[in-house]
Amino acid sequence: MGQKLFFEPRLSGDGTVACATCHDPARAFTDGRPVSVGIQGRVGQRNAPTILNALYNKHQFWDGRVDTLEQQAALPITNPFEMGSASIGDAVSRITSDKNYQTRFMQAFGRAVNEQDMLSAIAEYERTLASFDSPFDHFIAGEANAISESAKRGWELFNTKARCNLCHALADNQRDVTLFMDNDFHNIGVGILRHHVGPLAQQAERELAQGNLPAVDTAAIGSDLSVLGRFLVTREQEDIASFKTPGLRNVLVTGPYFHDGSMETLWDVMDHYNKGDGIMNPWLDKDMQPLALMEPEIDDVVAFLASLTSPQYKELGDREYARQVALSKVSRSQRDTQRAFGPKPKQPPPPPL
Ligand code: HEC
Ligand code: HEC
Repeated sequence: MGQKLFFEPRLSGDGTVACATCHDPARAFTDGRPVSVGIQGRVGQRNAPTILNALYNKHQFWDGRVDTLEQQAALPITNPFEMGSASIGDAVSRITSDKNYQTRFMQAFGRAVNEQDMLSAIAEYERTLASFDSPFDHFIAGEANAISESAKRGWELFNTKARCNLCHALADNQRDVTLFMDNDFHNIGVGILRHHVGPLAQQAERELAQGNLPAVDTAAIGSDLSVLGRFLVTREQEDIASFKTPGLRNVLVTGPYFHDGSMETLWDVMDHYNKGDGIMNPWLDKDMQPLALMEPEIDDVVAFLASLTSPQYKELGDREYARQVALSKVSRSQRDTQRAFGPKPKQPPPPPL
């Protein structure tokens, strides 16, 4: 029944948007867009993360504004930029008017349709969406040929020169599964150049009541304050523009990348890290450093990331890998051509005296 609710457009204000609209199983539970589009074509500010393995997240959302899947599920239903129901009660009564749901709620919970059971059914469905068994898992379990030589070099770089493991930690100690995340938040310089973050932080202090969860949710999805990230939740200076470290399983098929979907290929992501982007960003995480990775090393790390694709997305992954390779040949928008690669750009002539 949780699955049925996840695909249920009647949870939205105008009956057109379901959870699965933005978390589509055919796209590894994402929407493939830079940022999501809700009812009446309303465009949000954030990229839809996959729901695969979300059961292991200690915090939900890019800024960790809630911790449990039950708390999470309530917010998109009423967010005006997502499903836009006037209230949760409204959504519940649309579900209640369906005889089929009445019967199934009675069978599952022994009582009539209600908000709490509805949210826990959705959360229980999400808890079934574990996704492992990638070629990398076979490699790490001892099958030496499960991944390419390039991916093996990439795995080595991931843990050394490329410094990725500092945040995309190898195991979540509590549960002993490798998810490539640290359940923590960092400012890694994404979106900083496009926004005036300082004045936005002051605006948030003035206009947004701290701890008002629906207000924070609406601001995060539907306003420029979105770029403030974790700061919206904690109001700590050091959290300005910091976001949750996402897990990396199935990352090849869950692009575009980062909280704002601003990077289209894994090569763009690598170019960003290679610069260590600290330009005009006083809140940058101290673990972000220029990496000086050469082109073949970048290809190796991408090959490693691609080896984290679970078997049910192998075909999608092969197509996406080919697409990204082709795209990266014509566009490397994040690449630092001045500092690390190629001939130095021509200096402009000195100004006349
Ligand atoms: C209009 C598109 C849209 C709809 C509809 C939608 N989501 Fe999302 N979902 C998103 C976006 C965008 C985010 C990230 C928002 C943020 O972090 O601020 C997200 C985040 C999440 C997360 C957190 C994942 C993580 O790794 O932090 C979960 C879980 C989730 N959604 C489940 C649901 C469920 C359940 C529903 C239906 C009740 C739903 N979503 C409806 C777009 C959508
Ligand atoms: C200082 C901590 C830190 C380090 C070091 C780091 N990451 Fe990240 N990573 C993050 C955070 C935080 C995000 C989300 C940032 C955002 O969206 O603004 C992220 C996002 C990503 C994403 C996008 C995933 C998605 O679902 O959109 C990829 C891919 C990624 N990192 C790979 C890497 C690789 C490869 C390296 C090493 C070259 C690396 N990271 C190093 C913290 C880090």
